[in-house]
Parts: sequence; C-alpha cells; structure tokens
Amino acid sequence: MSQISEKYIEERFFDFLILGSGIAGLTCALQLAKRGRVAIVTKKQKAESNTNYAQGGIAAVTSQEDSFEKHVQDTCKAGAGLCREEVVRTIVSEGPERIASLIALGLSFSEREIPDSGGAREWDLGKEGGHSKRRILHCKDMTGKVIEQALLTAIAEDPNIEVLEDHFAIDLITSEKASLPGESHCLGAYVLNVLTGKVEAIGSSFVILATGGCGKVYLYTTNPDIATGDGVAMAARSGVPIANMEFIQFHPTCLFHPKAKTFLITEALRGEGGILKDLDGLPFMKAYHPMESLAPRDIVARAIDTEMKKSGADHVFLDITHKPAPFIIDRFPNIYQTCLRYGIDITKEPIPVVPAAHYQCGGVVTNIDGQTTLPGLYAIGEVACTGLHGANRLASNSLLEALVLSNRCAQSILKSPEGSLTNQRSLPKWQSGTAQEPEERIVISHNWDEIRRMMWDYVGIVRSNERLLRAQKRIQNLQSEIHECYWNFTLTPDLLELRNLALVASLIIDSALNRKESRGLHFNMDYPDPEETFAHKDTILTL
Ligand code: FAD
Ligand code: SIN
Repeated sequence: MSQISEKYIEERFFDFLILGSGIAGLTCALQLAKRGRVAIVTKKQKAESNTNYAQGGIAAVTSQEDSFEKHVQDTCKAGAGLCREEVVRTIVSEGPERIASLIALGLSFSEREIPDSGGAREWDLGKEGGHSKRRILHCKDMTGKVIEQALLTAIAEDPNIEVLEDHFAIDLITSEKASLPGESHCLGAYVLNVLTGKVEAIGSSFVILATGGCGKVYLYTTNPDIATGDGVAMAARSGVPIANMEFIQFHPTCLFHPKAKTFLITEALRGEGGILKDLDGLPFMKAYHPMESLAPRDIVARAIDTEMKKSGADHVFLDITHKPAPFIIDRFPNIYQTCLRYGIDITKEPIPVVPAAHYQCGGVVTNIDGQTTLPGLYAIGEVACTGLHGANRLASNSLLEALVLSNRCAQSILKSPEGSLTNQRSLPKWQSGTAQEPEERIVISHNWDEIRRMMWDYVGIVRSNERLLRAQKRIQNLQSEIHECYWNFTLTPDLLELRNLALVASLIIDSALNRKESRGLHFNMDYPDPEETFAHKDTILTL
C-alpha cells in the first residue's frame, strides 16, 4: 500500500484511538478513559486546533426567556431545509447538561450584574447572526482557548490517556485493505511520527476521527494551519460516505491587514452593535436583510462580496466606535489588543474586514452517536456531518455539536461488551515503495498555493457552472501530479496535507456541481434559486 518499510516501527495497541485534540477529541477521551487506555494522536502541539481560536462562544438554552423550541427553529431556519430535525432537537436539548459538565472542570463563563438586583449576577449571554435570542455563553472573546485549556488540564491528570503530539495520522487501517475476510471494519491508523520520520501502526477496536475542518483548502481562511481536511480525506479513502461538502461557511468578518494571516473578528461584535459599512462609511446591510448586520452568515458574506465587487474595494469596515471604549475593551480584550498591535484602535476607528472560509458544514456521515458506516470508526466534531447544520450552520452551534456528540459517542462505545476492547490482532505492515528524498520540493508548495487560489477564485462565495467545471478539470490534473509525488517522495506533513487538501477540494467541487440550485451557503449564479427537487436532499459522495 505505501512507503519506506525500513522506517516502519512496531505496532502498538490501545483500547481507544482518538485522532485530534480539539474540543471533540479531548471531551471524548475523558469519558472513554474511565474504561480503558486512550491514545490521542495529534499532528502538532496538543492545543493547536480550531477550538483554540474560537471566539464567540457556545450556543445553549440557559435563560428563562429562551426555549429549546426557539433554538431548534433558529437552527433549522439557518439550515435552509436540510437540517435533520430530530438531530437538532437532540443536540439542542442535551446542550445545558454538556455546559454543566464543562463548568464541572472548573471553567467559568463570563457573567454580568443583573440590573437593579443589588449585585446579583447571571451569565452574560451573547447574540450572533440568525439567533432570535441571546443564548451564547462565552469567556469574553477567548472562549475556545479557555475550553481547550480546561480540557487539557483534565487530560493531563488522567493516567489512562496518552497524548502523542507531532504524530500525523496518514490513513485508516481497515480489514478490507488488510485483505481480511468478512465485513470490512476499522482496525486502527498508520501514523507518521513527525520527529523521527517513522511510520507507526496503532491498533484499536474503536477509532474516533476528531480531526476538525478544512479551511486551509481556501486561500483566505479564519482557520489555523492544522485545518486541512485530513479526517474527511482518510474516511473517503476508506470508502466511508461523505455528505454536503458544497456547504462551506464563509465568515463575513476576518481582519483585513497585510500582516494578519488569519484573525477573526467575532460575530459577537456585531451582536453588541457593530455595524458593517462601505469605504464611504455608509451602512449597507439594510438593502440585503431585515436583520441587517446580524443577518445569517451566508447572507452577510454574500452581501460583502457583492459590495466589494460593485465598488472594486478590497475590504469593507466593521464599526463599533459608537460604543463606550471601556465596554469594548472589557468585552473584546483579545480583538482590541490584537488590532492595536496592527495599528488599529477599534474604540476610535472602524475595523477593515473581508469574508474568509471558516467552517465545513458537511463531512463524514454519522448517526447521532458519531457512528460511521464503517464498523469501529466514529467521527465527531467538525469532521462529521450529523445533520445538525444542514445547508448553513447557525453561529456557535459547532462547539455545542462537538460537546454533545463526543459525549454520545463515548456513551455508545462504553455500552459495547467488555470483550471488544484491545483487539491485539496483528496489523498489516506499512508497505514500502521506492520513495526518495527529492532534490526539490517546489512542486509541493506550488500545488498547495494553486489549489488554495483556485478554490478561492472558482469555488468561493459565488459559484457558476463554468467556474466549477474549470476547477474540476484542474483538480483532476493536480491530483494525478500529487499522486506521483506521494509514491515517489519521502513522506512529510506538507505532502500528506497536500494529498488530503486535493481530495477534499475535489469533494467540494463535485458536491457543488451535483447541487443544481442555490441553497444556504451554496450559491450558483446559473441556478440562483432553491429547487424543490433538492429541498430535502443531502449530497452524498462515496469513493
Ligand atoms: P479542532 O478543534 O479543529 O481539532 C482538530 C484536531 O485534530 C487538532 O488537534 C488537529 O491538530 C488534529 N488533526 C487534524 N488532522 C490530523 C491528522 N492527520 N493527524 C493527527 N491529528 C490531526 N464555533 C463555535 O461554536 N463558536 C465559536 O465561537 C467559534 N469560533 C470560531 C473561531 C475561529 C477563528 C474558528 C477557526 C472556528 C470557530 N468556531 C466556532 C468553529 C469551532 O471552533 C470548530 O468547529 C470546533 O472547534 C471544531 O472542534 P473539533 O474538535 O472538531 O476540531
Ligand atoms: C464568531 O465568533 O464569530 C464565530 C462563531 C462561530 O463560528 O460559531
């Protein structure tokens, strides 16, 4: 199957193998460690994840003025007809209990004083696009970092959990690939130890993909470097169905500054009154939606795209200067300090912003317990497609989904019979090719850049048949070039990510071509309206 046998080292086994150390992987590990030994494989340092950069917070019903029904309705409305209502109900209704479990780890959400109450306090619930009520629990504008740290602290105290940093999961090991008889099932994963360059086979009867999203497939993204769609690519290569990859969410407001690689300006800033303005300082969202700057994300991102194309400007502004400076600094300390480092004082001047790829609404098809169609393989968090988000994710619903699904996944695994743990059957060896250290790796970096620019230009916020077909042709050529590199070059994380990015790009393009309508985040100029034939239809691709 693969390369460099002399670098292959002995297989090892764990009761549970989790790929990824964001909110989904860590939360699941804490539950599973009650029953057996857990390995968490993570490709860089353990905190490096999308989770760590989440700003706005977690959507959950905690206030008397709110209800599960309202949260369900808001989610389904944003999802434009493709949400699975029973999944939405389950996730929304289990939210408060999952929030309590985070608090039990010692984490505190931001609070505020209740007016005229003599000093009583309550959670300071934030508001974001598409929510009819204030329901976002947050830790100022650094929610993800606080959650990641709380989870990592708990993980460090658990002797049953081993975190393998700088370990890059390359591919799943399945009984079919190992030519074993019977129904195919997952046996573990091949993992590149980035520090030694050796490939390890890690076996487990329960393999949980928690590898996050694929923002890096686009030139401009809010996502950190780890988000290269590895989990979707690994599952797809093992024949697991992948759904709804055409629905890529573009966040409307990423900081526009030549030195800022990826820095989000949270939607919560618009929730606290921030207004989108054109370069002449005029608000423009009234023309697009009654909720104006707080309309659902797909509408705001497309409106900004239209305004920028109309005026030729390379950004728009987000203005919160009308709010008192002490409030802005206290509520958004991370954004205030970061922008100040780039020379922008957000209390005195508007923030230059552009849309950027942010979230993958589709992914590996799972049921409500994270089970995929491949026995032994689970997927949780952003890598999975449960049916919660439909055609467009409601803001701050992803941390909620990751929390609920990681708990449900662990509970369903814990119900399986004791004897199913630690299946120490011998794993197929990582096979060698004739891989060489290439004289130059320019082809890898060139193809990385080409995919990301092509996806931005042809498969972005506004699509057309012609652009999509052009992208399809180009990605096919790129995939065959990359395939050659994969077999002939020694493995590095860059090459492995490039192979995954190319596959994920092709899944996005093919899914977009299949959906001959516009719905939620997928907008095709050649079919500008939703079509009844696609109204309840997921796009499912199986390699
Ligand atoms: P991640 O947190 O991305 O973790 C993935 C893990 O998998 C990482 O540890 C990564 O290194 C590892 N990994 C990936 N590939 C491999 C591989 N091949 N081998 C080994 N390890 C691998 N959502 C909200 O609900 N509210 C918000 O306020 C919010 N704000 C956001 C702000 C930003 C800037 C971004 C980028 C996203 C935001 N989101 C928000 C989305 C949310 O953060 C993510 O959807 C969520 O954190 C995903 O969690 P996860 O555990 O599934 O994946
Ligand atoms: C934000 O803070 O704007 C991001 C929220 C999200 O992606 O859910």
